[in-house]
Amino acid sequence: MRLNYLWKALLLLMGFGGLSACGDKSLPSGSMDGAVSPFRLSSPSGDVAVNFFLTPEEEAAYQVLFEDKVVIDTSLLGFEFKDQPDFGKNLQINSVSVDSVNESWKMPWGEQDSVINHFKGFTVSLQEQEEPARKADVTFRIYDDGVGFRYFFPEQENMEEVVILEENTQFNLTADHQSWWIPGDWDSYEHLYNQTPVSKINALALGDPGLNESNIMENAVHTPFTMKSEDGVYLSIHEADLTDYASMTLLADTSNLSLQSALVNSERLGYAVKRELPFYTPWRTIQLADNPGGLVESKLILNLNEPNKLGDVSWVEPMKYNGIWWEMHLDKSTWDMKSGRHGATTENAKRYIDFAAENNLGGVLVEGWNTGWERWIGFPDREGVFDFVTPYPDYDLEEVADYAKEKGVELIMHHETSAAPRTYEQQMEAAYQLMQKHDINAAKLGYVGKIIPDGEHHHGQWMVNHYRKALETAAKYNVAINIHEPIKPTGLRRTYPNLLTGEGVRGQEFNAWAADGGNPPEHLTILPFTRMLAGPIDYTPGIFNIKLDPYRPNNQVNTTLAQQLAAYVVIYSPVQMAADLPEHYEGHPAFQFIRDVAVDWDESKVLEGEIGDFVTIARREKGTENWFVGSVTDENPREITIDFSFLDEGKAYKAIVYKDGKDAHWDKNPTAYEIEALEVTNDTRLDLQLAPGGGAAISVEPK
Ligand code: NOJ
Ligand code: CA
Repeated sequence: MRLNYLWKALLLLMGFGGLSACGDKSLPSGSMDGAVSPFRLSSPSGDVAVNFFLTPEEEAAYQVLFEDKVVIDTSLLGFEFKDQPDFGKNLQINSVSVDSVNESWKMPWGEQDSVINHFKGFTVSLQEQEEPARKADVTFRIYDDGVGFRYFFPEQENMEEVVILEENTQFNLTADHQSWWIPGDWDSYEHLYNQTPVSKINALALGDPGLNESNIMENAVHTPFTMKSEDGVYLSIHEADLTDYASMTLLADTSNLSLQSALVNSERLGYAVKRELPFYTPWRTIQLADNPGGLVESKLILNLNEPNKLGDVSWVEPMKYNGIWWEMHLDKSTWDMKSGRHGATTENAKRYIDFAAENNLGGVLVEGWNTGWERWIGFPDREGVFDFVTPYPDYDLEEVADYAKEKGVELIMHHETSAAPRTYEQQMEAAYQLMQKHDINAAKLGYVGKIIPDGEHHHGQWMVNHYRKALETAAKYNVAINIHEPIKPTGLRRTYPNLLTGEGVRGQEFNAWAADGGNPPEHLTILPFTRMLAGPIDYTPGIFNIKLDPYRPNNQVNTTLAQQLAAYVVIYSPVQMAADLPEHYEGHPAFQFIRDVAVDWDESKVLEGEIGDFVTIARREKGTENWFVGSVTDENPREITIDFSFLDEGKAYKAIVYKDGKDAHWDKNPTAYEIEALEVTNDTRLDLQLAPGGGAAISVEPK
């Protein structure tokens, strides 16, 4: 064992309080028996700690503790390479350095005004004891709300490039926690969440049709993967700063209650990741809280991303929008022209613009404006078909753009790539130039279908790099983007604030056409604690014509109308759609909430909640004293009490409550709602009855 003990003595001398040798009375020693030079570092408050050590086999291992209890037990680190031996055995520690930061940074837009970045961290330099004596560092950052760690491969003699077949990062659990998961599909996050103990995860059996060995590694789940322990610890595993690397899914070993990284592979290239040295991997993250809201309020993922690279992003505008969209999902109109029911006509666009201008919506999205929709979904030869600069003959882009400007409304561009990224890359510059010419600063991108070329996947390294290219090219032209069928968010909006929002979820559209009946009432009570931990969601709320009459007799939205309103607060996105058709808002006093609700915030608080049951969130509008509260419940009716103690003391506020009507029910009576105005102060405790599949939305402003 060639260990240099000096570094440790040095660190202790330097008074680095948190770092200490194992042997602490609080340390669970059992699983570290025989460990080489174990040590620990704690977060600023001491609530979270990491033990790092070499096992008796000289493998690198870590443990995570929360409030003095082990929550991630001895877990190994390592890699499987192509044309090189695996990395992870027979290691020595060359050095350890420590690091700590306490700063805060401003969000250009977001859930809150600024974010505190406070951690203690350390970097361990590892090297193989024998030839080829390859080196890698592991850096841990320990926050009060969790842990992030990543690998770094420094420049070195015996390795210039690595081809990674698999990353062997383990997350070993201490018990059979409840978990909320979607199958680790290499091409989609558009699945319903399953709730099972970890021992019962069965991604292929419980998962959706369409999943098979070619797009999922057996029994893998996506991240954020959220769990709850019997004693009330909430954990969520995800990744931060996914750059030039394949996405990580988690392979569940249900007998050993262990999760292991499983990278999305390219069958075309025969590997998951190829990188030249030096390089960093993405951060592997474990968020920790003693209540579910703590996970939602955690900014760990963003903190582990690089600061804003774009500088002044005043052209990135949070806004509400409507658009020529839901009418296609209802099949009232179509994206293409051949049906004779083309949605994106100049006239129809003007109708939506008028509605937006009259109703405090900042933008209008127009889908189906460009040629190529005759051959998108399902056409294997669709590469080269979409044209991102040529409008259909019945859509005058210039006229529509001018009209929008006149009315003070932003036009939102749409680029459906049909998962043919090479076509999009060829036209990207021209497409964004066209937008610039018409002063259009936002685009929605889509990647429907199987990626062309064959063997590539939405979540593999090749596509990760494509999405990044789109983001960076868009930024050059002051274009902000909203990506559908995206790579999951990993906090890049901090570095590139033009990454507005995205789908990567089973969104509202499923309610229009899914053969399984759409998203169940509990869906929105799970998303805040799972997918939303990764980043903003373009869920597209606000459907008032719940039964979809007369367009979709066999489908419906499985919530009450009041829950649709609550979603604007519960689901965070800097752009929020008023998704229904203008005519469906007519005669609805409840539409006032959509007119009023903010999209950019100074503060956000989870007031109450339980994953899969209900959640209540309050947010304060950026630059004002106005608050908005949203509460949603699952299929069960629920009595909740809204505690207004978050309001300023000694001030009176006017609250308008939009709530389920007495007999409201997501299926039997979804549109029954009541509106009540009342005065509230920070002493107010308001009892509300939420209907099955229901919710409540409240706007609050100082009197
Ligand atoms: C799927 C997207 O999620 C949806 O919003 C869009 O309307 C269609 N693709 C067409 O691009
Ligand atoms: Ca979609």
